[in-house]
Amino acid sequence: MRPTTPGFAHRVPLLVVLLLLTPSAQTFTAQETTAPRRIEIVARRFAFEPARITVVTGEAIELEVHSGDGVHGFEIKKLKIKEQIPRGEMVVRIPFTAPAPGTYPIACSEYCGANHDDMKGMLVVQATSAPASEP
Ligand code: CUA
Repeated sequence: MRPTTPGFAHRVPLLVVLLLLTPSAQTFTAQETTAPRRIEIVARRFAFEPARITVVTGEAIELEVHSGDGVHGFEIKKLKIKEQIPRGEMVVRIPFTAPAPGTYPIACSEYCGANHDDMKGMLVVQATSAPASEP
């Protein structure tokens, strides 16, 4: 912090400290300054490509999902995300902020044929961007 004048320095610090201590202010700043990372996903019978998406907690993400054949769904129950992916070229954009570390199952939420129930993916949220060690 480099105040421009001594007078400024005396008046400002309390306000600055309050802002820094306010979690919502920090989150707001992060979202304002970081463009979302776009991840393209193709839904087609009976898989998502890629099936596994790895992100970092707090990262701004925008999924761009489109169908490779007929109608599918894209659902991450734990994040209350559920979108229909229509037939054709239309891209469904799904913005969200990567949640707490963990694994979040992705499922197809529209019946799309015999192996609909096998059409699954996984969102993996890591605590940091450091490469994960193999288990
Ligand atoms: Cu794809 Cu159900």
